[in-house]
Amino acid sequence: MWPFKVKVMWRLLQCGLTSHPPASALTASFSRVVLGIETSCDDTGAAVVDETGVILGESLHSQKEIHLRNGGIIPTVAQQLHRDNIERVVQEALERSGVPPTQLSAVATTVKPGLALSLGIGLEFSRRFVRQHNKPFIPIHHMEAHALTIRMLQAVAFPFLVLLVSGGHSLLAVARDVDDFLLLGHTLDEAPGDTLDKVARRLSLIKHPQCSTLSGGQAIELLAKEGDRRRFAFTTPMGQIYDCCFSFAGLRSQITMAIKKKEEEEGIQPGTLLNCVNDIAAATQHTVASHLAKRTHRAILFCKAHKLLPSSNPTLVLSGGVASNQYIRKALTIITETTQMQLLCPPPKFCTDNGVMIAWNGVERLREGKGILSSSVDVFYEPKAPLGVDITAEAPLSWGRLLTLQMSRRQSLTLSTMTENVW
Ligand code: KG4
Ligand code: ZN
Repeated sequence: MWPFKVKVMWRLLQCGLTSHPPASALTASFSRVVLGIETSCDDTGAAVVDETGVILGESLHSQKEIHLRNGGIIPTVAQQLHRDNIERVVQEALERSGVPPTQLSAVATTVKPGLALSLGIGLEFSRRFVRQHNKPFIPIHHMEAHALTIRMLQAVAFPFLVLLVSGGHSLLAVARDVDDFLLLGHTLDEAPGDTLDKVARRLSLIKHPQCSTLSGGQAIELLAKEGDRRRFAFTTPMGQIYDCCFSFAGLRSQITMAIKKKEEEEGIQPGTLLNCVNDIAAATQHTVASHLAKRTHRAILFCKAHKLLPSSNPTLVLSGGVASNQYIRKALTIITETTQMQLLCPPPKFCTDNGVMIAWNGVERLREGKGILSSSVDVFYEPKAPLGVDITAEAPLSWGRLLTLQMSRRQSLTLSTMTENVW
């Protein structure tokens, strides 16, 4: 194994900092290094990241295949799997980094929101670890970590708009600082990843030869490539509600009814693969993308009207597991091009849960001196935890009027024509 300093040198050289890396970069790399630990749902992740965003070591254990076989996440099963793997995963990340625990500047761990039993394992392990090694502890909000990941990969200044879409969440927020978010919209019922996972289960995609090891969202994306979305006309949710919130439960009912009807037509039992499975996947993906795009469009117009984003190079960051989906990225690209925004998405590996994003969030907080606790402070996990200041309920009707005006004046292309003709 390479010693830590050699490894940092090598990574700096790889990054193009050839023979003369800036002294500041070297000093920073040597001085502050954070261990990040993630166990909020079904991935046990750990990583060691330095202050310049160099990933020194990482390890990830995914429980996906076990939960797929069980037909969904059973919290006690997830908890046991985290318990079985956390020690090894953290050890692996540390060993790969070459950083001994004594050289860590802090330990950052997801403590909210997520599955209580899963969060508990990461927190319990971290509390023992920081006490043993006498290290500062940085509790992390999982969605804050998804929002900030992009800043590890490229220079993105605050404020920027984020759309975070995962198995547990969907939200639109203005990121104003590391710990300062303005929440514009969130899901009123289930999250898009949850919807895709449930639709995939109802379609029995685990029995599909190409999908048996894929998450619901991945399976739907794959099959949708061969499907004709026009064969099923699902209604985009919340068409008459002029705010930036989301809803996916009603869409799932529409899809379930369509599946049931097709099963009857094809004379097959639930649990058997339908012939039209690709078309249902395509229509599902399209409607989810369309809903996300329309709400995001409204949020962009709201931000512009209220000057919440910089006039030069305003940015939308798309992240979370569902943001791995290329069709959804394309849909959001149409929106950002129309509104003169730049769209940034981390690569899929950093959109789904991992320890790197937690370590990076720790780095960001460490740099600003925000939320750093001593090893002896008691911290508790919070299964439910909103992100930032919630302004979703602020006069949605006036938003609506304002935005309708703006859309008709400024846009030659309406959203409905875009969704019909451009995609
Ligand atoms: O962020 P994440 O790893 O975990 C949570 O915090 O929830 O997201 C997992 C979710 C799952 O629901 C999965 O089906 C979805 O992300 N997902 C996708 C894709 N890859 C993962 N959804 C759509 N398209 C994908 N390619
Ligand atoms: Zn996540």
